[in-house]
Amino acid sequence: MTPRRFKARTLAFAALALTLVLSGCGRNMYDQPRAEALESSRFFADGAASQALPEGVISRERGSIDPSYFSGMGDAGFATELPFELTEEVLVRGQERYNIYCSMCHNYDGSGGGVVVQKGFVPPASFHEQRLLDSGVGYFYNAITNGFGRMYSYASRIPVEDRWAIAAYVKAMQLSQNATVDDIPEEVLENLRSTAGEVR
Ligand code: HEC
Repeated sequence: MTPRRFKARTLAFAALALTLVLSGCGRNMYDQPRAEALESSRFFADGAASQALPEGVISRERGSIDPSYFSGMGDAGFATELPFELTEEVLVRGQERYNIYCSMCHNYDGSGGGVVVQKGFVPPASFHEQRLLDSGVGYFYNAITNGFGRMYSYASRIPVEDRWAIAAYVKAMQLSQNATVDDIPEEVLENLRSTAGEVR
């Protein structure tokens, strides 16, 4: 078989395959039986086609209601508040994700000398510099989302909710490295005193 005839036959096969694939798309996907909003329905016990959302459902469109959830930007620059409630669970999740995704460069304590840096990668600034202590949680969310200088974006690897959890954890880490005795709640201090003797 000459190359030319081979090419013609391949093209003919490709055209046939394409015709079969395209003609397979009828309108039956488009015209499927469905209930319109607020219609009645015999399917559900309460007779309504529109059902209340199950408990605990989280809107996938939260970002379109509150764009700063995705952008990390508030009215006056980087967001300074977490867009959801800060719980211990969020911080634990943030710590876990931080250790996986960030510690190899930024180090476990945020000082910037992680193992990749020890192997020669450009060292990032310490998270405990005054400039970064003064930066809101949205600043960190933003760096994860869009990357920062030579650090690439994590948008395709870390879901939005986890990016916020990491950013919250970084703020908590900053606090932990720069806290004084006055920052410790009284009952925790009591506990520390009784277990560790004296706290300076
Ligand atoms: C491969 C190494 C590496 C990883 C992994 C990494 N970073 Fe970075 N990061 C850097 C470097 C290097 C810079 C500084 C880049 C520059 O100045 O060009 C930086 C900069 C930053 C900054 C800006 C700091 C400033 O000076 O204003 C923030 C915030 C940050 N990273 C957060 C994170 C978080 C959170 C993660 C985990 C999701 C992460 N980084 C993962 C290397 C990394």
